[in-house]
Amino acid sequence: MGRHPGWPARLGPLQVAAGLLEVRKPRLSDASAWSRVRRRDRRHLETWEPTTPGDWETNNAALAWPGQWSTLRALARRGMSLPFVITVDGQLAGQVTVGNVVRGSLCSAWIGYWVGTHAVGGGVATAAAALVVDHCFFYAGLHRLEATVRPENTPSIRVLTKLGFREEGLFRRYLDVAGMWRDHLCFALTTEDIPSGLVGRLVAEGRASHV
Ligand code: ACO
Repeated sequence: MGRHPGWPARLGPLQVAAGLLEVRKPRLSDASAWSRVRRRDRRHLETWEPTTPGDWETNNAALAWPGQWSTLRALARRGMSLPFVITVDGQLAGQVTVGNVVRGSLCSAWIGYWVGTHAVGGGVATAAAALVVDHCFFYAGLHRLEATVRPENTPSIRVLTKLGFREEGLFRRYLDVAGMWRDHLCFALTTEDIPSGLVGRLVAEGRASHV
């Protein structure tokens, strides 16, 4: 019970400009740190995240975390998701989630992420996503990862292009974000694109280092 390829996992550490980065499974005890960052960074996050019923303050209160944590844990235990928390110097800095894992002849999933304003611009999303992509391809048995992003989200598109994700098309009115159906660009990577993985490439480019 609860064992699926690649889950649970602890990834890193990697040194990036923002600090010492690690990726681990979410904990119930993340509630207050998660809520503090999410409530403080509402304007930074709300423009890009899927619309959810209810208001931001309630959905991102510490009291909302146990429900989210338990849903993430249940999906991970069923092999449908790989949900991760990102820490920088031991402090919660964001999340990377691999969702809608489909196996069989597809072996595919989506990847999404967010990083708090205290840690942006320091290579955190790029390095965290690189760790998770390598993990998905080399340990979790996935063949393809897709990332969908609003065309206006320049920082996220930069993250994906730094990682070598290929732009494959435009999904019209794809996702309800900030209260409206928004177009999204679809980016993707398959195992054939990165036979030696992404982390090694980031390290070779000087964007991250092993500690
Ligand atoms: N114009 C051009 N480039 C920019 C801008 C801008 N306005 N702002 C940032 N960048 C660049 C940075 O310079 C950096 O590139 P560089 O390394 O070449 O200098 C890159 O964008 C950001 O790379 P990281 O530092 O690895 O990313 P960061 O840790 O700052 O996180 C993220 C980026 C995740 C997009 C963060 O800003 C965030 O959480 N935003 C709100 C939520 C969000 O948009 N999530 C992504 C949704 S799409 C998806 O999940 C696939």
